[in-house]
Amino acid sequence: MNILSISVSSDMLTLHWSDQSISDYPFIWLRDIDPLGFHPQTKERIFDLTSVDFAIQPTEVRLTALGIELQWPEEAQGSIFSQQLLFDYRQHCALQDPATVDYQSWQGDFTPPRHPAKQMQQPLAMAAMLKDLKRYGLVIVTALDSDICGEQLGDSIGFKRESNFGVMFEVINKPEPNNLAYTSVSLPLHTDLPNQELPPGYQFLHCIANEAQGGESILADGFAIAEDMREHAATQFNLLSSQSMPFRFHDNNVDIRFRHKIIGLDEDQQINSFIFNAHLAAGPDFIAANGLEYYSAYRELISRVRRPQYPLQLKLQAGEMMIFDNRRVLHGRKSFDPSSGNRHLRGYYIDRGEIDSRLRIIAREQQA
Ligand code: OGA
Ligand code: ZN
Repeated sequence: MNILSISVSSDMLTLHWSDQSISDYPFIWLRDIDPLGFHPQTKERIFDLTSVDFAIQPTEVRLTALGIELQWPEEAQGSIFSQQLLFDYRQHCALQDPATVDYQSWQGDFTPPRHPAKQMQQPLAMAAMLKDLKRYGLVIVTALDSDICGEQLGDSIGFKRESNFGVMFEVINKPEPNNLAYTSVSLPLHTDLPNQELPPGYQFLHCIANEAQGGESILADGFAIAEDMREHAATQFNLLSSQSMPFRFHDNNVDIRFRHKIIGLDEDQQINSFIFNAHLAAGPDFIAANGLEYYSAYRELISRVRRPQYPLQLKLQAGEMMIFDNRRVLHGRKSFDPSSGNRHLRGYYIDRGEIDSRLRIIAREQQA
């Protein structure tokens, strides 16, 4: 895209592009994104916005072969803004982001995408898996051929998120459990660690063995449940997305508490998180924090979570790993009989930002 002409007013520069589009650049903003104001190696801003007048104007503006050259009053050196930078930074256009993937909600007839582990060494196959994960909040990686492969896949994506259960946790029937998951009882649909300041983004559960009778996984899309509530139970949806629920986990070593809105909305009122865990909802705090109206909305939500149209069921096989958005997809399991065979899942968490970063790095490497 080329700049055809420029015009200058008292507070902004206007560019006329060869595709007939016109874009405005307020001077104070140009001053703030001036490439000279960034450290050449770290690419971090060193310019201080308060060091110049808000009504700053350049003393000179020129269209050259390199782009736009500006002379700021307080600088000895002129600044150059390339055409590409100005095009990328067109006002009202957010920077293009390869990690942007719109979500698609699903119900119990959904078949989670399956991605063979070996292909994950190919960046494009890894990106396809991560995009499916962002779109549906759930994928299954297949054919992991050793017990360490599940963990290694996470290492090739990004940093793991540590919690009071460790970086890696072993989901097995333990003699002295501090978590219902470490028993053989059934687990109703939930999201993990709602008692944390930021519940982990994605959960990875690598199936090492699943030979016991029972132990099937149950998964449901919290965004689908929230969307339906928005449409059919608006009062309750509004309460659950504006008031927060206290959660608490405590054992011999920790007492971790935090409050979250069960349904999280972004600035555009789009659903972007669903945090639900009936066994960690903090009883006394809950009554103190919320009135009966909220209680009734919460009860309505629980019964909606149980509606049969939402969950899908699958039995993980050894060598499969399910990955799901822990602030969206609810997970649970059927009880199992520990005397009938071994059941062992190995888990860890990776936050959303790490997944997005990997997608951007893969996109950057494909362009190079
Ligand atoms: C968990 C969990 C499910 C299972 O570890 O958080 O919910 O299938 N496990 O054992
Ligand atoms: Zn869980």
